[in-house]
Amino acid sequence: MRVTDKTQEAERVMSICNACRYCEGHCAVFQAMELRLEFNSDSLDYLSNLCHNCGSCYHNCQYAPPHEFSLNVPAAMAELRQENYGVYAWPSSLGKLYSHNGVWTTLLSVFVITSFIILTSLFTGSDFFGVHPNGFYGVLSHNALVSIFGTVAVFVLVALTLSIRNFWKVMNLPSPWKLDWKETIQGIKDALSLRYMDGGNGQGCSYPTDKPSMSRRWFHQLTFWGFIFCFLATSTGTLMHYVLDLPAPYGYISLPKLFGILGGIGLIVGPIGLLSLKYLTPDNTKGKTNKGMDVSFLILLLMTSISGLALMVLKETPFVGITLSFHLGVVLALFMSMPYGKFIHGFYRLISLIVFSMEKSNKQAIVGTNEIPIKKIS
Ligand code: HEM
Ligand code: SF4
Ligand code: SF4
Repeated sequence: MRVTDKTQEAERVMSICNACRYCEGHCAVFQAMELRLEFNSDSLDYLSNLCHNCGSCYHNCQYAPPHEFSLNVPAAMAELRQENYGVYAWPSSLGKLYSHNGVWTTLLSVFVITSFIILTSLFTGSDFFGVHPNGFYGVLSHNALVSIFGTVAVFVLVALTLSIRNFWKVMNLPSPWKLDWKETIQGIKDALSLRYMDGGNGQGCSYPTDKPSMSRRWFHQLTFWGFIFCFLATSTGTLMHYVLDLPAPYGYISLPKLFGILGGIGLIVGPIGLLSLKYLTPDNTKGKTNKGMDVSFLILLLMTSISGLALMVLKETPFVGITLSFHLGVVLALFMSMPYGKFIHGFYRLISLIVFSMEKSNKQAIVGTNEIPIKKIS
């Protein structure tokens, strides 16, 4: 168990709410809270990942500022979530780097990786500024592409697995194959539908203003499914290359292209919508520290989709070299940020929602019930 400013504030907030219980119908956080008499860092990390930052409880709270309790549940939870990304990350030093300097670390990695790719293609003798009949393989060979991506992918997969395993252990879960399927499916459904972005009354988040709106939920869905479709585009492309012996480039009526176009559009409209909402929202409900990480992730997603679509249009022009290098630089920077940045929230939230579904059906707390020695972190 750890004690930090963020865990202490979340504990204070939850102790007051647990005595008040006015918001018990709002969302999973309050129902899970009521299964506990006290809160250690494990249960607070869990509760923070259940909070969907809908803002509803803040706008209904009689103890919100200017009351002397100055209670702000979504802000306390958002700040604790931000701390979580560093705490559970493997290796933790990289987690801290991203959580303290999200935007700069991201922009710097895009710059360094793009420059590396440009230099690699210049030094391997390809005609960087030429027009290539076989599209981007004329700029960077297939083997060079596979070795760069393969190395990064292995590191990212290991880091993601170890970070998720750290969180999984603290959530007190058994091995995945011992989970109850009914409860697990309920948790997955709640995650995919973003159920708790409904503001507790089905009208949506009090975001960007205190007037309920579904816009954040819809823009998030576009971002989420845009990402999944882009992932499917890459996966079907890889299968066609290696299993069916059909190398790229692919025509417009092919699975990689169709998934890529649909995903690319979702990943442009969704992040632009989320960024606009973020700038229309006053800081009080979001928590002060969440912005850098959200913004850097949104910018990366946006740059990925815009450069991917640009590559599709420019692949038979002399701009293919520079567009490809930038696109690969952005995609690799996105990959590398996955275990440390905002991307990991999808896994932590999914796991927390599965735990909540188990706690709800057994009416018993699972997380935070172990006796663990206190570790003070400044
Ligand atoms: C299990 C799946 C997921 C769940 C339950 C989920 C839930 C949420 C929630 C509740 C928020 C708002 C609170 C916060 O800022 O943390 C959020 C923010 C965000 N999510 Fe997800 N998410 C999931 C997966 C994903 C994936 C796969 C992506 C894209 C690759 C994504 C992109 C984002 C972005 C960009 C934000 C920041 C939005 C903003 O700044 O308003 N999420 N997510
Ligand atoms: S947020 Fe405010 S109104 Fe809601 S349960 Fe907590 S203290 Fe009570
Ligand atoms: S902000 Fe919304 S999701 Fe978070 S605790 Fe309050 S009501 Fe629940």
